[in-house]
Amino acid sequence: MIDNIDWSQPTRDELKRLLTAEGDLQQELFSLARQARTAAGADEVTIRGVVEITNYCQKRCDYCSMRANNRDLDRYRMDVKEILDIVAEIKACNIGVAFLQGGQDPADDAVLEEIIPIIKRDFDMEVLLCVGERPREKYLRWAEMGADSYILKFEMSDAELHQKVIHASLERRVRCMEYIREAGMRLGTGNIVGMPGQTIDHLVDDILYAVKVRPDFVSTSPFIPNENTPYEHTTSGNMNMTLNTMAIWRIMLRTPLIPTVSALEKIQTDGQLAGLNAGANILTINFTPQKERNLYSIYSNKRFIVSYDHAMRTIERAGLRPKPVEDIVAPTRRPRAEFATSRAADV
Ligand code: 5AD
Repeated sequence: MIDNIDWSQPTRDELKRLLTAEGDLQQELFSLARQARTAAGADEVTIRGVVEITNYCQKRCDYCSMRANNRDLDRYRMDVKEILDIVAEIKACNIGVAFLQGGQDPADDAVLEEIIPIIKRDFDMEVLLCVGERPREKYLRWAEMGADSYILKFEMSDAELHQKVIHASLERRVRCMEYIREAGMRLGTGNIVGMPGQTIDHLVDDILYAVKVRPDFVSTSPFIPNENTPYEHTTSGNMNMTLNTMAIWRIMLRTPLIPTVSALEKIQTDGQLAGLNAGANILTINFTPQKERNLYSIYSNKRFIVSYDHAMRTIERAGLRPKPVEDIVAPTRRPRAEFATSRAADV
């Protein structure tokens, strides 16, 4: 049924049909995505260990309860010792990626700058950051200190919708993605599916935008209505459209790492297994201690917490294997990457 699609240039109508696929058509899409993953030699699942280092955030995204204007949330910043103890725990679990995530909190940068070189020197792990927008010099400095990779999702590639939901410009976000690449770090990006006001056309734009950027990692997650936000009483994003987005990216982009995010499990039992079956190949295990975990309310204060056992079981049930830690090597620094300009920057 989808044999006749030219994957180097699918039409918008074809993408809409695939994005909304269910039943047999969806199974065909997933099967094609798994074939693409195998063909790209990307069937081993990379495991990351995440520590959520701060829940302070400058941003005011309407979907996230860590937004600056939520006064009902207790805020925390972990100190250097606490973070390094957790990274040691991640290392002890034989995990090769130390994923440091936080709200956009420049007041915490001194802590980051202390720990990045220590993780490289003492633990020899891949350092992956996801802490938001900064000036160009910061990204350059972090890359020089040893940060290997950085995730900055565009969230919504439509400039108007982005501005409406996030109250900031898409252009600035895209510029930061360019800085990250220029600095030589691997770039991860992606979107959220099911935001109030988002249409199928917006989602097709998101798919095509990520294909243009050609990121090293690309992720999508279903929108989860979050307490103490303007979207608290709206409905969750569509599971099928999220999985279909993952599969389409796997087929069109082939090589990137694609996570199966915990929000999938929050929406549906075995949601993360469904993500692996749709072409994903990363699972992130949460190492944030209980006391901070409950305050790191990105999806919801009742989010699904991925444990080591859950991750391993999910990988096994998908018929896959974890990527051996010795194969997770820090990428060699790349020269200034060519960067596809955004739709927003085009206009
Ligand atoms: N629903 C879905 N995804 C969310 N994210 C943050 N809040 C939500 C939510 N309520 C995603 C964003 C962010 C990533 C860390 O989590 O894409 O970049």
